[in-house]
Amino acid sequence: MEILHTAAELRAWSREQRNRSGNTVGLVPTMGALHAGHASLMRAAREACGAVAVSIFVNPTQFGPNEDFARYPRTFAADCAMAEAEGPDVIFAPSVEELYPAGAATFVEVAGLSGRLDGASRPGHFRGVATVVSKLFLAAEPDKAFFGQKDAAQVAVIRRMTADLRFATEIVVCPTMREADGLAMSSRNVYLSASERAQALTLSRALRRVEKLVADGERRSGALIGAAQEVFAAEPAVRVDYVALVDWATLEPLEVAAPGSLFAVAAYVGATRLIDNAILA
Ligand code: PAJ
Repeated sequence: MEILHTAAELRAWSREQRNRSGNTVGLVPTMGALHAGHASLMRAAREACGAVAVSIFVNPTQFGPNEDFARYPRTFAADCAMAEAEGPDVIFAPSVEELYPAGAATFVEVAGLSGRLDGASRPGHFRGVATVVSKLFLAAEPDKAFFGQKDAAQVAVIRRMTADLRFATEIVVCPTMREADGLAMSSRNVYLSASERAQALTLSRALRRVEKLVADGERRSGALIGAAQEVFAAEPAVRVDYVALVDWATLEPLEVAAPGSLFAVAAYVGATRLIDNAILA
């Protein structure tokens, strides 16, 4: 497994894979602090593509001024060991200066979508995500790129951007990996104290409640959101950021759930902001 540091190296590797070896190229973008959720993306990429690159880059532009960029977990040696087990061919680990050269002034803005859900709570977040994913797509020129359903609003933004900019990349979405008790895996779970770790289960509990109601025939947005809010109300230490039923493509609120609708929650557990969601059956 080779470690590449520049966009030019990644592009050369990708072109060689495609043109000389006839491989399809898969890209798994990450910010490192790899866990089993990331591993599932690497595995899906390995199964679908002849050549796989994983990027590890804590992207400064997607963090707000009061967010956790400085203390975001950076575990590069452990990440390499984990990646080794999942078999990507290369790790792309650029410096901040490599992806944002001095004076960098170019950003990708997905209008509308970028201001919904997490974008409403985290102004500028999706602009940073769309910008860095564009840079990664331009460097890796992947046939397929792998993202987790866990970040469902991010998926909507990236799908829109990929369609709008005519990237020749297929977006593959992989299911959310969970701990045995239901907590969605996240690099930010390491911030949780023991008591917060227990409180964090409120998010998945609320989603299971909503899925049960949908299975029993409830479709009305008000009833579903109300039921989720009731679950949160039982855990006052958890501060809800949003509970929403939206169209997964546009992130616009829905009055009535339909198959494929996105039910998404975000909440603060202590100082840690967690998100989770369910795609309704
Ligand atoms: P990061 O949070 O490291 O996540 C990298 C990828 O792993 C994302 O596609 C995310 O949805 C996926 N992922 C995270 N937790 C998961 C879980 N429990 N199950 C399945 N997949 C999971 O998302 C980002 O980084 C960044 O915004 C990035 C796209 C790399 C741009 O900087």
